[in-house]
Amino acid sequence: MYNETSPTMNFLETCRSQVDAELDRRITLGSASERLQETMRYSVLGGGKRIRPALCLAAASALGQNNSAALVPACAIELVHAYSLVHDDLPAMDNDELRRGRPTVHIAFDEASAILAGDALQALAFEWLSEAPGIAAPARLAMVQTLARAGGQGGMVGGQAIDLESVGKDLSLAQLERMHRHKTGALIEASVRIGALTVPGVSEQSLTSLTGYARALGLAFQVQDDLLDIEGDTAIIGKPQGSDLAKAKPTYPALLGLTGAREHLAALLGDALDNLQGFGPEADPLRAMADYVVARTY
Ligand code: IPE
Ligand code: IPE
Ligand code: MG
Ligand code: MG
Ligand code: MG
Repeated sequence: MYNETSPTMNFLETCRSQVDAELDRRITLGSASERLQETMRYSVLGGGKRIRPALCLAAASALGQNNSAALVPACAIELVHAYSLVHDDLPAMDNDELRRGRPTVHIAFDEASAILAGDALQALAFEWLSEAPGIAAPARLAMVQTLARAGGQGGMVGGQAIDLESVGKDLSLAQLERMHRHKTGALIEASVRIGALTVPGVSEQSLTSLTGYARALGLAFQVQDDLLDIEGDTAIIGKPQGSDLAKAKPTYPALLGLTGAREHLAALLGDALDNLQGFGPEADPLRAMADYVVARTY
């Protein structure tokens, strides 16, 4: 089980430092504007748990891949995630002023810079996937397609649209689940699938099991995010506690109550882990990540 000194934390810490170093090294190569470079660096570096890159790396290692081929794809996914946060915080969306314990990008810079940094990060993610070293061209194409689908109208952006359309409305459990699966689940599922796609010859059966794990975990991730909005502490979560309530966002605790949401979270964790039953100890990082996602305090 997850605690601050468990193997999960070691795995996550190692991924975090590898991913941070790679992001830092690559992020502003080729940028045409100094201010844009600065905004992009601020958007991506200096915070972030790097859960999606860690899931990508953990999926690759669950399939026995121990080289670094998944690192650049993992970083590409983080770029899409970081861009989604920059835009999510904009005044026209959640209008939040704190992220990762610092002023949000539009506060630290300005709105136009935040919009442009998000735009550039999204494009850069696909550039990195298309040129990921050590991966054959067909697999790179499959990764590009996976991330494009997960990030677009049928994935994260579609979910964000549902989120904004749902403000102040009472959603059914099925509608809420649909929103969460899109806005958060899609990118988490893509993280695991892209990790798997970096492994040559990955079987359909493994992909199906890993996708089942990721679908349950993606939903669990947003349930815990909703719970932290109520139970978390601004100083620890690094973003304004109570933001969902203040904006009448539909959330799991709002629909099921705190106890109901916690029970749902536990069921989703069980579901995620069940999907890994056919894997041996090489999937322990994925198991540990699942424990971490539901127990995290920020
Ligand atoms: C927050 O994601 C946004 C959601 C999708 C709920 P994270 O909790 O992974 O944010 P960072 O990257 O660690 O800041
Ligand atoms: C955000 O959901 C999901 C994204 C696609 C960024 P939230 O709006 O709940 O994320 P936080 O709480 O601001 O991180
Ligand atoms: Mg939002
Ligand atoms: Mg938000
Ligand atoms: Mg939230």
